[in-house]
Amino acid sequence: MSQELKLVLADSYALFLKTQNYHWNVTGPNFKSLHELFELQYDDLFAAIDEIAERIRTLGDKAPGSFSKYAEITSIKEGDENKPADQMVTELVEDQALIIKTLNKALKISQGNDDEVTIGMIIDRIAIHEKNAWMLRSSI
Ligand SMILES: [Fe+2]
Repeated sequence: MSQELKLVLADSYALFLKTQNYHWNVTGPNFKSLHELFELQYDDLFAAIDEIAERIRTLGDKAPGSFSKYAEITSIKEGDENKPADQMVTELVEDQALIIKTLNKALKISQGNDDEVTIGMIIDRIAIHEKNAWMLRSSI
């Protein structure tokens, strides 16, 4: 179980950093709304990262906490701060789908283990990333 949660943690950290990068560097006529939307999303991810890492510890494993480890195992590609706003949003929509895929794999394992607490945490995260995807898609 904790192996799957490590992938969720790595994806969440990578997406946190990328969303913050785009919060800082987005430009154009939609600057204010995108700057604020990205902030809401990275704030949520920042809190989620801690919750996921501590769930891994609760399950008895060590939580990875280095950029090199995250880069090795995440499915989220690094952001490019020079991209135009619409490409930033399109990319973040795709990233929501990627992290949902990682979460769904972890969900199947936690269901197999009857691990209700992890199941609950993962379902909450899927709901948030689905909502994020809708909000991002609606901004294009
Ligand atoms: Fe800020």
